[in-house]
Parts: sequence; structure tokens; C-alpha cells
Amino acid sequence: MSGPKFLNLSPGLDRVGRACAWIEHEGLVLMTGLEWGGWTLPGGGIHPGETPEQAAVREAWEEAGAHCEVAGEAVILHGDSACVPLRLLSQEPSPEGRPAAWVNPRALPWADDIQIRQVLAARGRIPAHLDVPSLVWLAQSDAARLGFDRSCSLETGRLLRTLAAMRPGGRLLELGSGAGVGAAWLLSGMDAAARLLTVEADPLWAETVWALLATDPRAEVLHGDWTGSLDRAPFDLIFADCAAAKVDVERLADALRVGGTLVMDNFSPPAFIPEALYAGDPLRDLLFTHPRLTCVEVEVSRRERVIVATRTT
Ligand SMILES: C[S@@+](CC[C@H](N)C(=O)[O-])C[C@H]1O[C@@H](n2cnc3c(N)ncnc32)[C@H](O)[C@@H]1O
Repeated sequence: MSGPKFLNLSPGLDRVGRACAWIEHEGLVLMTGLEWGGWTLPGGGIHPGETPEQAAVREAWEEAGAHCEVAGEAVILHGDSACVPLRLLSQEPSPEGRPAAWVNPRALPWADDIQIRQVLAARGRIPAHLDVPSLVWLAQSDAARLGFDRSCSLETGRLLRTLAAMRPGGRLLELGSGAGVGAAWLLSGMDAAARLLTVEADPLWAETVWALLATDPRAEVLHGDWTGSLDRAPFDLIFADCAAAKVDVERLADALRVGGTLVMDNFSPPAFIPEALYAGDPLRDLLFTHPRLTCVEVEVSRRERVIVATRTT
């Protein structure tokens, strides 16, 4: 095994928080190379006795060779990391030996970077074409207010929207509505003639989603077990997003029209796979060996894959 690629000048085993640096210069933002590839804002642990601002200035120097001063108020990112705006004074090679890159934070793929996106959102600077549809935003707000943390990701949402847009006049089904984020993405891709049925077993979530979607004539919310929707088959697209439905691939295939699409999210890429699946993933096997389905696994983000399957016969 080879050792780490870069030095770590402040391992921060005793850290009391995390801070990173937003160094914007002539419209570009400074990022630093990650050990395992890819880029991140310079940052790391806050040492005892350090402020987040001091930690950000130190990390900017250690990781990116940037001498900086504090230039404004920190934005708190998910996971409680403080992202501190810094002004660049001068730049040398990184003492830790990391590469550094100046990137355009409002252009893809950078605007979708998990840290950059949060900073842009906090400042109201997300480019309009990359923003979430307003109904998705409302559903996400309901989820946050009610403490629901199992909504589909932004990346899965965009995939759902694209797949829904491929089905003009289609009949779409979501199994497990949650707070309505997935339904809102599907609706944002559907045309006026398409219809969505979303099924939710929990009365609180069913009521929440009903209130969210009540004004959209294309949407219907069914409170009950997912199997209650099967007498409405066939469907052109099924987003199977509750555990009970996911394992019943036979009935899901039955409920699809030939040529219809089955979507399941939240599969881990090998780098993040839980130990319980080291011996293999029975659900992946079930889908990929199914005689009536043809499947592909799509990596929608560094941490998530989605399986898209089509019924062939
Ligand atoms: C992962 S969440 C759904 C998230 C949602 N699809 C989204 O993308 O935002 C799973 C939901 O399935 C619901 N659920 C669990 N078992 C169910 C069942 N047997 N039938 C219908 N819904 C079920 C749960 O209450 C939960 O709200």
C-alpha cells in the first residue's frame, strides 16, 4: 500500500469544529485537491482555542498556499462547518503539496459542488437554471420543518424530472411519498396530460403531501400501503421508494407497461458501501437478474447511485 499523497500539517485529532475558506478572486473560487481525487474548499478541523476564522485562514495557507485575511461573515454549511469568506493577499505552492485550482462557482460542474452550492444558496446566487423548482423548495421546507430526512437527493430529483419529461401523457407512480420532494420533482418534468399517483402509508406524511399537491390537478395522493395502487396499473414510470415495495420486484414489473421505467435510488457506490453488503447486494441481484427487466446503475453523485430499469416483455 502506498502512503498518503499529501502532507497534513494539522491533523486536528482534538478538533472542536470544522471551518473552510471561500476565497473569491476575479469571479473565481480557490479549491484544493483531495487525497482520493476531486476538489474541495480548503478547510479542516478547528483547533482548541482557535476561532473558525483563524482556522480558515490557517487551512487556506496549509492546503492551498494562500495568504488571506478575513473578508466577511461565515456561512454555516450542513454538518456545521463554518465557511469563512477570505480575501487573497498572495499565493505560493501549497506547503502540504496539494494542487490548487481556481474555478467558476456559477458554472457547472462547480455550481453543483456540495459546498459551493450551499454558499451560493445562502447568498441567493444560485444560477436560475440550476435552482430547484418552487414546489420542490416547498416540499424541502416541509421536510426540514417536520424533521423528515429521507427525501430524495437533488441529483435523483433531476433524474426523476428528466425521466418524467420523457413520458408525455404518462401515468406515473411513486411508492412512498415522504414529504413530497420526489413527487414535486416528477411533477416538474411532467406535461399537462401526464398523471402522478403517490402512495404513502403514514397518515402524517400523506396529509402533508396532500396539502402540498392539492392545487395540482395532475397529482393524486393515496393514503395506505403501496399495494393499494396496483389495481391502477399499468404505469409508464414507477419510482419505488419504500422498503416494502423495493423487494417485491415481481409485482413492480407486473405493474409496469412494457417499455415502462422502474427507478430505485439510494444505492451506495463501492467506496461507500455498508459492510453488510460486502458479500453482495441482494436487491441489485434481484433487479439485474430479473427476466423482464433491463437495468443500468447510474452514479448521480459521488455518494449515490440510482438503478433505472425498463420492462422489456
Ligand atoms: C424514502 S421515503 C420517501 C421519500 C420520497 N419518495 C422522496 O423522494 O422525497 C419512504 C416513505 O415510504 C413510506 N412507506 C413505508 N412503508 C410503506 C408502505 N408499505 N406503503 C407506502 N408507503 C410506505 C414511509 O412512511 C416514508 O415516508
